[in-house]
Order: sequence, then C-alpha cells, then structure tokens
Amino acid sequence: MKKDIESILYSEEVIAAKVKEIGETISRDYAGKNPLLVSVLKGSVVFMSDLMRAIDIPCEIDFMVVSSYGAGVKTSGVVKINKDLDVPLEGREVILVEDILDSGKTLHYLKTMLSDRHPKGIRIATLLDKPERREAPITADYAGFVVPDAFLVGYGLDYAEKYRNLPYIGVLKPEVYAE
Ligand code: IMP
Ligand code: MG
Repeated sequence: MKKDIESILYSEEVIAAKVKEIGETISRDYAGKNPLLVSVLKGSVVFMSDLMRAIDIPCEIDFMVVSSYGAGVKTSGVVKINKDLDVPLEGREVILVEDILDSGKTLHYLKTMLSDRHPKGIRIATLLDKPERREAPITADYAGFVVPDAFLVGYGLDYAEKYRNLPYIGVLKPEVYAE
C-alpha cells in the first residue's frame, strides 16, 4: 500500500490531537443534550470510533450507509441509501459524522433528507474539508483540517475500497487512479 502514497499529509499523532480537540468542543456544545452521532459509512468509520471516545458526555450512535462514488474519484451526485438509521430523529440533536466534505453533494442530500424527520438540530462534523471543491450549499460546523484538492486515502478514506486501514492520511499517487 505504502508505495502508492505520494506523501503523508497527517500523521497518526496529528490526527489524534485534532480529534481530541473536536471531541472536547462537541462535549462543551452538547452538554446535557444527549446528541445522536450519525456515522456516514464506510468512510467515517475510523473517525467515528475515535471521535466518540473523545466525547465525554452521554451520547448515542447510529449508522447510515450511502454510496455516491462507485470506484471512481469524482462524485456522481447520485446518493444511494444502502442502510437507513434505526432510530427516529424527532426532537433529537443530530451530528452527522463524515470523513470528508468534498463537493458537498452527499451531505447536502442527507441533511435535507434527515431534516424532514424533524430533529431538533442537525450539525456536521467532518475530519477533512475541501472547500475549494464545494458545489452544494453546505458548510461543516466542526471541521478538522482544511485540505488541498488532492485525492486522499487512509484513516477510513478509500480509493476503490482500498487504503482505508492506513493509520495516517496520505495523498494517493495520481498514476494509481489513472491506471
Ligand atoms: P461529496 O459528496 O463530493 O462531498 O463526497 C463525499 C464523499 O466522497 C466522502 O464521504 C468520500 O467517501 C468521498 N471522497 C471525496 N473526496 C475524497 C478523497 O480525497 N479521498 C477519498 N474519498 C473521497
Ligand atoms: Mg468513499
């Protein structure tokens, strides 16, 4: 896997410090509110598992599985719900947990869809934010790192389902996806 990585953008240590910081902020903002953390799978699995342990107030978790990319590197704009939430959102404080906010189409679609279920509020926590690439009108409430427009893998992020298990975030060599 390592030979396909051009450079390491964020090391394990740097990511851990950032996740801790986001967890502390969420713990402060949501004290006494029992938020529901919604992990948007599969990409956010690693961030979610670290973030929930960085939050020290009572909270609940649930998962959604969506796909928007297929095996490519550009979003199709079509969001497919492969697994919906198990719990009703009525009156809940929801935090959507994502790995990366890119075009924003996925989260824009999800936020709109989930808002129809009358939660008390919905915020977005994303580890990575690529604002340059935004096409949908959406911003993150909690964002770890603002990243350059390169294709990133590791810490949950994949290319064609590979590299999710890298403990750091790296830039994928363009020749890997040009093949
Ligand atoms: P959006 O709808 O364009 O914002 O796409 C969001 C989803 O695209 C993320 O949850 C990722 O699964 C995927 N994605 C966007 N950029 C990257 C990247 O640089 N590496 C890996 N996956 C990405
Ligand atoms: Mg993906």
